[in-house]
Amino acid sequence: MRLAIIGSGYVGLVAATCFAELGHEVTCVDNDRQKIGSLQSGETPIFEEFLPELLARHRGRRLTFATDLKQALADVAAVFIAVGTPPTEEGEADMSYVEEVSRTVAQTLDSYKVVVEKSTVPVFTHDWIRKVMLLNGAAPESFDVASNPEFLREGSAVRDFLYPDRIVLGVDNQRSSRVLHEIYEPLAGGRYYQQESRIPGPAEPRVPPVIVTSSKSAELIKHASNAFLATKVSFINAVASICEVVGADIQQVCDGIGADSRIGRRFLNPGIGYGGSCFPKDLKAFHAVARECGYDFRILEEVSRVNEEQLQRFVRKVKGALWTLRGKKLAVLGLAFKGGTDDIRESPALAVVKMLLREGCEIRAFDPAAMERARPLLPQQGLIYCESAYDAAERADALLILTDWKEFAALELERLRSLMAYPIVVDGRNLYDPAVMSAAGIIYYSIGRPAQAAESPMEVSARGSQR
Ligand SMILES: NC(=O)c1ccc[n+]([C@@H]2O[C@H](COP(=O)([O-])OP(=O)(O)OC[C@H]3O[C@@H](n4cnc5c(N)ncnc54)[C@H](O)[C@@H]3O)[C@@H](O)[C@H]2O)c1
Repeated sequence: MRLAIIGSGYVGLVAATCFAELGHEVTCVDNDRQKIGSLQSGETPIFEEFLPELLARHRGRRLTFATDLKQALADVAAVFIAVGTPPTEEGEADMSYVEEVSRTVAQTLDSYKVVVEKSTVPVFTHDWIRKVMLLNGAAPESFDVASNPEFLREGSAVRDFLYPDRIVLGVDNQRSSRVLHEIYEPLAGGRYYQQESRIPGPAEPRVPPVIVTSSKSAELIKHASNAFLATKVSFINAVASICEVVGADIQQVCDGIGADSRIGRRFLNPGIGYGGSCFPKDLKAFHAVARECGYDFRILEEVSRVNEEQLQRFVRKVKGALWTLRGKKLAVLGLAFKGGTDDIRESPALAVVKMLLREGCEIRAFDPAAMERARPLLPQQGLIYCESAYDAAERADALLILTDWKEFAALELERLRSLMAYPIVVDGRNLYDPAVMSAAGIIYYSIGRPAQAAESPMEVSARGSQR
């Protein structure tokens, strides 16, 4: 099928590339000329596993890039809108990009098309898109609007797209339903999983169920899913805070809770809080939607509050490990909002770095993919970007782990300890077993677990100066 994807960001580019992988002819459109230029010239503008391989496979063949929306829409069966929906000052989703695209699509319709919301949008958006298109000259029978929310996670976006837990199709009539079913047939019919060339996934992939709903329900499914996941994160972070007071171990508590199949172990990961371009904004937008409907969804406010407090708690933990912060040299591992991505939008790691710089710390930071994106958003004074985790650790008074990159969970501890001025690690992602750190001679602080060594800063200092 011929498809157009509007927006070539984390969602649009991954969706376009994966639809090409499923056999469709795809044009990915963006009004950012620089981005499209770099995609046309063979670059991969975002860091995502398997994306370079898929781009190499399909670029210039089944997958093309364009800035001209009108041209890209010729003869397509469906148009996926994957532009940004950032928060306004009031916390609502800014729908102006979606509106702009809807207007242009209306003015260029050449044959029947399904206009599909891929962006995360508030309930009733499909109605608004329809109204805008009618006002801009589209004939009522020449299009349908459907909702197909995207659940991919940055860092594993390609795999999530091709091996989804479910495919949600929010459709209000048979015609649009048929088009969307056909688009996803290679996944929903299981054909893709029999291909030898498929992107590696589970050894025995499960064919994803297709959940067909109304457009309204699909829009709500996405907002409610993200709000629920954010709630899970804040809930476990709150439990971690209690563990710290009573001396219990949050990892043991998580295993105990997560073994209940009604709850599940995934997403029960204590840390410095959630971030990224989705959870914070979607939580606010969902809250605004509820407010407009006359429902005061106060749990969501509390989820945000716990998340913000988690950052303050972490900085207090660093202070607790080092006594004073002014002039302390800190190694920081991780700037991205999570491992596996270069995305730094709403990254809690950046928030922690800014707070520590304000306290007068000197920071040597390393992130495997996000340093270039972080640079313009962080102060220059007091911050040095390093080549590796070990480079960052040199002569550090303490090392902080802020992002759950896999490689940060596999550091050579002996080497790390020998490089640092003091062997203190404050782990905001619980990547290590405290007993392993203890055996490596490292004083280890993490989230929701007792500190590994009870030595005072003065004792630590004395030990350091004897070496
Ligand atoms: N990033 C994620 O993990 C994720 C996951 C699921 C859903 N979403 C949702 O998907 C949507 C897109 O998110 P993203 O992270 O890909 O955003 P992004 O900012 O990375 O990409 C958006 C792209 O849209 C382009 N754009 C804006 N206006 C345009 C226009 N008029 N014509 C053509 N292109 C235009 C921008 O130039 C940009 O490249 C958001 O609603 C987001 O909430 C994101």
